[in-house]
Amino acid sequence: MFDKWWERSVIYQIWPKSFCDSNGDGIGDLPGIQSKLDYLKDLGVDILWLSPIYRSPDRDNGYDISDYYSIQPNYGTMEDFDSLLQEVHRRGMKLVMDLVMNHTSDQCEWFQKGIEDPNSKYHDYYYWRKGKGPGVPPNNWNAVFKGSAWTYNEKNDEWYLGCFSPFQPDLNWSNPELRQEIYKMVRFWLDKGIDGFRLDAIGYIGKNPELPDSPDGSCLILDPCVHTYLQELNRQVLSHYDIMTVGENANLTVEDMEKFASLDGGELNMMIQFFHVEEDIDEFGKFNLNRVNLPHLKQLYRDQQEDMYGKFWTSLYWSNHDQPRQVSRLGTEDPKYRDRAAKMIAMNTHMMMGTPFVYQGEELGMTNLHWDSLDELRDLEELGAWHEFVDSGRKSPEEMMECIRQKGRDNARTPVQWSAEKNAGFTDGTPWIRVNPNYTEINAAAELEDPDSVLNFYKKLIALRHTDEIVISGQYHGIALEDPQVFAYTRGIPRETWLILCNFSGEKAPFDWRPYLYSSSEEPDVVLGNVDSSDFLETGTLEPWEGIILRCRT
Ligand code: GLC
Ligand code: CA
Repeated sequence: MFDKWWERSVIYQIWPKSFCDSNGDGIGDLPGIQSKLDYLKDLGVDILWLSPIYRSPDRDNGYDISDYYSIQPNYGTMEDFDSLLQEVHRRGMKLVMDLVMNHTSDQCEWFQKGIEDPNSKYHDYYYWRKGKGPGVPPNNWNAVFKGSAWTYNEKNDEWYLGCFSPFQPDLNWSNPELRQEIYKMVRFWLDKGIDGFRLDAIGYIGKNPELPDSPDGSCLILDPCVHTYLQELNRQVLSHYDIMTVGENANLTVEDMEKFASLDGGELNMMIQFFHVEEDIDEFGKFNLNRVNLPHLKQLYRDQQEDMYGKFWTSLYWSNHDQPRQVSRLGTEDPKYRDRAAKMIAMNTHMMMGTPFVYQGEELGMTNLHWDSLDELRDLEELGAWHEFVDSGRKSPEEMMECIRQKGRDNARTPVQWSAEKNAGFTDGTPWIRVNPNYTEINAAAELEDPDSVLNFYKKLIALRHTDEIVISGQYHGIALEDPQVFAYTRGIPRETWLILCNFSGEKAPFDWRPYLYSSSEEPDVVLGNVDSSDFLETGTLEPWEGIILRCRT
């Protein structure tokens, strides 16, 4: 336990399209990423995860791959990739790629060949079925990005399954030939020397080939065969390399996580957990104005963190390309407290057990964007939901727009704010998506200079994971679960306890720390805090959005 390199690492996610543009076409690219490697090294992160850079028609920003063996021309060439990998390694960091193998693009050659010739082997690489009747799809499944999960193809009078969208037909994992085709592709990338994969929407690959109706129309059935496939992939491919794997799948219980990512390493090394980012969903899914319920959230974390010890490993995050900006969601955009809240949220995440993921711009405290109109939006999911909820009258356009401002994925996809120069220093051209106008205040250049910046606070948090064993292996105890303001927990190893206190509110919060650090006769010391010369130990009251780590040794 605790001897794997990824258990002692911090991962940084790069979403290439919005990271850094090197040639002025308004789209981030591989040379742009390479130009920022020193910045990332200086931040202290160990592993870079690159969202998809394969050739793609870009309906879902590369999560719709048309050729697994080539690089999206907007992003560069295979030589650019090889050079990036080499430069990452030269700096002692690792590179993990995104692997989308539940579906391809509808422009993928395999899919096209299967339509052209239904007798070719490619036809069975996907799920083609006859309808239940004229115009009636084969089952009741709905796509994640709305509408039926089935699309009719006139040529062969058949329907194909796309659990996300019609542009993303699902691959038929029950076909052993398809699986070998995928494994070949996985080996191609591993043989280049990359350090692992993030496996997109991985639970979806497990489908009962009968494709029965589901009780709620969802296509995420998590058929047990998903584990058979992952074990085969592990046995035949993954286990032959020194790599890490992180699977992505919504709606997993603690028991599911243990199956996917148990410490015996038979499937994957960790899962991207969702219980926290789904805490606030309602009948409209993510598109609502709910704030997270803190006592409930603490309970969910307690269950997972206390349960995982000795059983499985997990990821820790609030931000990625599918989530709104965490400081807007959980903290505040009020300039008076924004930076403090960003630091507090980061502290809360980074002090837990698991591997923290930092999403580009998060380390600067980047915020959501106040979108003005529909034509500024780029995301398939937002537009799909708009049509579903607004066209049917279930939400007014104004309300839906506000939901998108607070929860939509485009918030995470605005360009990284590198400097106060034009377009935040992201591009010399016209950015493919709007830049957040607050780049004049929130940007990397300014934060590098400011010792109190969010960026410099992240450096301290990341460094703690490398210096203090307790951050990696300390047992987690969730405490004060009912407290409506303070997220509190302890980590413990023999002879040492840390108490992490995070005030998730804009009001002062009294908190009695003594019962939790009782083993010490002396005052605890402060490991790190986000309020300059905090007087918490004297007053017993946390300032608005204050976060503090107290340590006791016996
Ligand atoms: C995952 C990705 C998301 C993508 C979807 C379909 O959830 O993170 O961005 O849209 O899978 O591939
Ligand atoms: Ca470019």
